Amino acid sequence: MLYRKMKNGDVISILGYGAMRLPQLKNGEIDEIKAEKHIRYAISKGVNYIDTAKIYHGGKCEAFLGKILSRDGLRNKVNIATKLPPWQVKEKSDMMRIFNEQLKDLQTGYIDYYLVHALDGKSWKKMKDLGVLPMLDKLLREGKIKNAGFSFHGNIEHFYQIVDDYDWTFCQIQFNFLDTEYQAGLKGLKYAAEKGLSIIVMEPLRGGRLAQNPPDEVKDIYSASGLERTPAWVWNFPEVVTVLSGMSTYEQVRQNVKTASDSKPGSMAKKELEVISKVTKVYKKLTKIGCTGCMYCLPCPVNVAIPSCFEYYNGFHLYKDDKFKTFYKNFLGDKAKASLCVNCGQCVEKCPQSLPIPELLKKVVKEFE
Ligand SMILES: NC(=O)c1ccc[n+]([C@@H]2O[C@H](COP(=O)([O-])OP(=O)(O)OC[C@H]3O[C@@H](n4cnc5c(N)ncnc54)[C@H](OP(=O)(O)O)[C@@H]3O)[C@@H](O)[C@H]2O)c1
Repeated sequence: MLYRKMKNGDVISILGYGAMRLPQLKNGEIDEIKAEKHIRYAISKGVNYIDTAKIYHGGKCEAFLGKILSRDGLRNKVNIATKLPPWQVKEKSDMMRIFNEQLKDLQTGYIDYYLVHALDGKSWKKMKDLGVLPMLDKLLREGKIKNAGFSFHGNIEHFYQIVDDYDWTFCQIQFNFLDTEYQAGLKGLKYAAEKGLSIIVMEPLRGGRLAQNPPDEVKDIYSASGLERTPAWVWNFPEVVTVLSGMSTYEQVRQNVKTASDSKPGSMAKKELEVISKVTKVYKKLTKIGCTGCMYCLPCPVNVAIPSCFEYYNGFHLYKDDKFKTFYKNFLGDKAKASLCVNCGQCVEKCPQSLPIPELLKKVVKEFE
């Protein structure tokens, strides 16, 4: 495992464990046996940063991590990062209530890296008005959090503002070869790094979409080059301290741990970078809707399965395969299809990408229904 240094001097593994996509049982609950095995393996190979949030796995992720990290001294081997969800904060007192619940669930006396979750301009204003900054100051003074940061899903102007508004130790941004000009993007990464923030990257494979079943044109480019589909491209940036990967299988954990053992900044060869550049062009040409499947938009009040609607729509256009229309009909049926949308807009407020979801659902209806 390779390590890089945070602004505060902490030495952090370049692979961080993203706990948003732990293996699941058929009923959607965390597959605790598999998840514990994966996390223990990663820690045994030197991963020392685990990223979770109040909302992951239906609100059960923190308690699960608390349980497994309390065994065999694992807690002392890792930095825990977790997040305060602005959309669950209705009044000032909610912030400390949520924080105390998190400490209890995680079975810990302090959080190493505490983030205000999925900020954009609007949620940042709300959290500032509610006094999140004095609260972070107080938690830092009391040693209940060791570092304060934020994760971000807004536009670049809001990103600059948030970076400038506080003495953050770190920020967490979505960054992968398709998102260099999206949200914070490359400009945001450089800006935050210049301002002295350490950079944590999330969604390095765009939620897995850059790895699984690529379109034929992309597959051909990869097989001709022999390059593997891993988060390696992101590690090429010296500004990035750790790359969070949500790993749903043991093989993915093993592969990413292996790649993290030799991915130094600037270590990607010119030839490899050319491959990524070719692949990027093809994806940009073929992708219709920029949904990453993070599911923050759910639950929809009328039960539209928004990420699945977009996944099938994009799949249909990327792979030119009618099976995606069949999936749409068979898996979503009349209970979760796009035409149920009543245009309430709740999903738009929650979408980290600020996608105009009701408008996009209309496109799905037009082509799929
Ligand atoms: N703060 C925020 O607002 C926010 C938002 C999103 C994510 N996050 C955090 O950031 C973490 C990382 O984001 P992410 O989970 O979206 O990361 P990601 O790496 O872009 O996507 C994870 C998915 O990539 C696939 N994958 C991973 N390694 C692979 C490999 N070696 N080969 C093939 N496929 C591989 C898996 O897909 P399959 O499951 O399909 O196999 C996995 O579920 C999350 O887990 C979460 O902790 C935070």
